[in-house]
Formats: sequence, C-alpha cells, structure tokens
Amino acid sequence: MSMRAVIQGVGHAVPGTVLTNRDLEARVDTTDEWIVQRTGIRERRISTTDESTFTWALQASQRALESAQIEAQELDLVVCGTVTPDMLFPATACLVQDAIGAHRAGAYDLGAACAGFIYSLATASAMIESGAAQTALVIGADTLSKYIDWNDRATCILFGDGAGAVVLRGEKDTDRGVVKTVLLSDGSGGRHINIAGGGSRVPYGSPRWDETSKFIYMAGSEVYRFAVTAMGDACCRALELAGLSDTDIDLFVPHQANLRIIESAAKRLKLPPEKVFINVERMGNTSGGSIPIGLSEAQAAGRLKKGDLVMTVGFGAGLVWGANLIRW
Ligand code: UT7
Repeated sequence: MSMRAVIQGVGHAVPGTVLTNRDLEARVDTTDEWIVQRTGIRERRISTTDESTFTWALQASQRALESAQIEAQELDLVVCGTVTPDMLFPATACLVQDAIGAHRAGAYDLGAACAGFIYSLATASAMIESGAAQTALVIGADTLSKYIDWNDRATCILFGDGAGAVVLRGEKDTDRGVVKTVLLSDGSGGRHINIAGGGSRVPYGSPRWDETSKFIYMAGSEVYRFAVTAMGDACCRALELAGLSDTDIDLFVPHQANLRIIESAAKRLKLPPEKVFINVERMGNTSGGSIPIGLSEAQAAGRLKKGDLVMTVGFGAGLVWGANLIRW
C-alpha cells in the first residue's frame, strides 16, 4: 500500500478576549438579532495589541505536538496557512519553527485565506506521500481582527482570531490519513474580498495608500453566493475521487464563516445535524484557523474516533476553495 499522511495529534488556541454581538451594537448600527439570523454568530475572540498570529500558531502547535507525543526535533516540515503573518517576512512558520525548536524542519507560509488550512494540509500530505517529508506540522492561523474597520458593520461582525494545528506522519499499510484532496481557484473573483494595501502594489505610506487601504473589503452577498455552491461542489468531487458517498461521512467539519452557508452544504450532502460540527456561534470566522480549531474541538468533545471519515471543506479570498477527505 502507498504512503499515507496520518494525523497523529491536534491542538488549537484562541484569544481570551471575547467580543459579543451586544458589544458590537454599541459600536455600529446593528443588532444581536440581525447578526444571529444572518450569520449564526453570537461572539468571537479578538487579539489584544500584544497578541498576534504567532501567539495562537505557537500555542496550537505546542498542543498538537503534545497530543501527538512527537518531539519538535522530529519534524521535517512546518507549514502555516495564514494571510495575516506577523510580518511580510520572515514567514510566521519560521517563527514557530524556531520557538518550538524544530531544528531539522523546512518552514514556509501558505496564502490561501480562509482555505489556508485546506491548502496547507493538501500540500504537506503530498510531500509525505512523495517521500519528501516524513513528519510535518500543519498550522492554520489568522488574526483578521487587526484588519477590520470597526465602523464597517458589513465586516466587523464576522471575523475572530485563532489557530489550530495538526501533526502528520507518514504510515504505510493503513487506510487512515488524508484520503483525497481537492483544490480549486477562480482569481477573477479576487475583487469580491481583499485587503488592497500593505503589499507591493500599495505599500504602507506610499502615495496610493489611504486610511481604508489596510481594511478588509468584502462584497458579502457575492462571496455568499459563491460559497454556497463551492462548498458542496468540492465535497462531492472529493467523495467521487475517493469512490465514497455522502453516507460514508462520519463528521463534517466545514469552514465556519456563516451558519447558513454551513447548513446549505450539509443539506446538499444530506447530513443529519449530529454529523455536522459547528462552533461559528462562539468563534466567528477565524479564517485559516477555522477548520483545525473545529477538528481540535471535535476531538476534545469525543466526536472523532480513530477510523472515522471526516470531510473538511473551505473557501476564501482568491477566490479559492477545496476539500480534504480524512480517515481519522
Ligand atoms: O471566509 C470568507 C469570508 N466571507 C464570507 O463568508 C461572507 C459571506 N457572506 C455573508 O455571510 C453574508 O453576505 C453577510 C452576513 C455578510 C451579509 O448578509 P446578507 O444576507 O448577504 O446581507 P446583505 O449584504 O445583502 O445586506 C442586507 C441588508 C443591507 O441593507 P439594505 O441595503 O437592504 O438596506 C445591509 O446594509 O443588511 C444590511 N446590513 C446590516 N444590517 C444590520 C449589512 N450588515 C449589517 C449589520 N447589521 N451588521
């Protein structure tokens, strides 16, 4: 049998500071009722000035290594799916690599927005399957709260901060591990959700920079329409490639962006509520952190057992989307 990238451990970390819908009512023209009805979100976790993507990525990584009972020195690879790195460079993955003492590992960030963990897991598992790596730490981490216009009610209600991580190790003769991956993109949709400034096109402080350059711009209903189709499409494709059907899924851990988007994907896969993991009401949209935080919470809640078939799926700015079908 060929090599499989098997998840050996999982962990997550989120800020202690909680921002409720009531807190937002005091800042912008919105209501708790509107936010809950349209998104399912009741509260989200927000970093302080001293906390950054690295803060959550490091804690999540340490917890994942501990749960895997694998030493950092055994890692060949550290991949961090993030679009809110601590700095443009060096990569946040390198900051984590140094802090945990992963002296033998290569380390890089991967930018696929809210699908950052889906893309990072697909990449790391392909490295393991090819023999280029044996043991890998895969992180999804973001602090989008740092890029929010707190006067913009269309975006400030959605996002929260946090990170999750898994440790992968190659195993032969097993049906466990990452079974199939699907990665898709449509760059023509980049105009619907972006942060225009801070890169080489509109560098900070350049003549083209203005007060709005650092904020998330989002055409919410465009992204919503795309997401509803994209989530289901990616899952169906992954099942088809694996020769499995929706009835084989034991747990569905989708990107937590909006409860209505999750419910429509679950409906397309004909999944009963007990097979759908949801924490969007407490976390909001934590971007790259969303899916691994979900996996970590599901594991802690006893909702994931060895051998379970887990469907993970995400979408985000790019536009990008994709799914990883995992035998836990
Ligand atoms: O990971 C990818 C990240 N992005 C997403 O996943 C976003 C996907 N999109 C969504 O989740 C939804 O589009 C939103 C929750 C952002 C918005 O819900 P919607 O049902 O698509 O609302 P809408 O944008 O069509 O706006 C409807 C109305 C508008 O008022 P008018 O023009 O009808 O008078 C908005 O101005 O709701 C208004 N509105 C609000 N009202 C109260 C927009 N934001 C708010 C708010 N509170 N926070």
